[in-house]
Amino acid sequence: MRTEPSTAGTTAAAAAVVAGRAGRATAGDATAVAHPNIALIKYWGKRDQSLVLPWTSSLSMTLDLFPTTTRVRLAPGAGHDTAALNGVPARGETLRRITGFLDLVRETAGSGRRAVVDTRNTVPTGAGLASSASGFAALAVAAAAAYGLELDATALSRLARRGSGSASRSLFGGFAVWHAGPDTGPAAAADLGSYAEPVPAVIDPALVVAVVNAGPKEVSSREAMRRTVGTSPLFRPWAASSRDDLAGMRAALERGDIDAVGEIAERNALGMHATMLAARPAVRYLSPATVTVLDRVLRLRREGVAAYSTMDAGPNVKVLCRRADAERVASAVREAVPDGTVLVAGPGPGARLLGEGE
Ligand code: PMV
Repeated sequence: MRTEPSTAGTTAAAAAVVAGRAGRATAGDATAVAHPNIALIKYWGKRDQSLVLPWTSSLSMTLDLFPTTTRVRLAPGAGHDTAALNGVPARGETLRRITGFLDLVRETAGSGRRAVVDTRNTVPTGAGLASSASGFAALAVAAAAAYGLELDATALSRLARRGSGSASRSLFGGFAVWHAGPDTGPAAAADLGSYAEPVPAVIDPALVVAVVNAGPKEVSSREAMRRTVGTSPLFRPWAASSRDDLAGMRAALERGDIDAVGEIAERNALGMHATMLAARPAVRYLSPATVTVLDRVLRLRREGVAAYSTMDAGPNVKVLCRRADAERVASAVREAVPDGTVLVAGPGPGARLLGEGE
């Protein structure tokens, strides 16, 4: 069990914190930017809903596309928080999640002040492209600075986790592992031990993102996870195999073996979808267009291109390949799904505070 959270290799987020200390964010007003991440080893299922502790550790690549920019301003005298998403006032469940998150920050900061949150998302919201990851990572960094908290990268990752599990990984650029944390002992130890940190990798990959449907999903990932953990006979076997997949993935990243990285990522994602298909009632995010892309990727492999698929809580497919092959993969996928939008992403930066005028 860990006792001291590690701060090794956390430069991007640590720099964000230092920037806050240096006064780039005025007290009570801070803006942060964060990018989404795509898991190569999936997070699927919570063992503690309120602390957002996962059953298994996961590993992701942060993208250089679709940043979320979030400004948090304290509003002395205001009776409640307000938030706008792309200029549209947040209500209902969305506002409740943001307020609940700010309550955590206020508790740590010993503040009762309400805030005004303005967030701009460039990723299609709710389409399985991890808008909640970039959203809560940016909110964690901006809110911590606005409320005057001096948190290191590990603490920021733990904070972001409470908003959305996958957000813990978007604190970091490149590849990051989110530790599940100890699953025995007190909840406080599990909470301290469940954070993300960068992992070494020597591959130069691209993720070709095939958006086959940019609309919001019918079942939220939160509900789908709960149903899967509660009812799917395949969940526990997948979780056990995912632990092995993570060890294999870390080794493959370190030796720069893109085929092993891709094979492990693809089987881990298909396994995750299998757990949902076996839930009662089933959750099926994959659509005919998804399967069309999966088939095209298989054909690319037969043609000798290292290309591997992964899918999240939605029908869109992300295809991992060498950066040098990205254009070939993208045009093959574009031909396969001419109505879709196909973009090429590379490894992106960690979350950071923006300076004035940025
Ligand atoms: O943290 P959430 O609710 O965005 O969970 C997302 C889970 C997956 O995207 C399906 C997998 C992952 O690890 O990101």
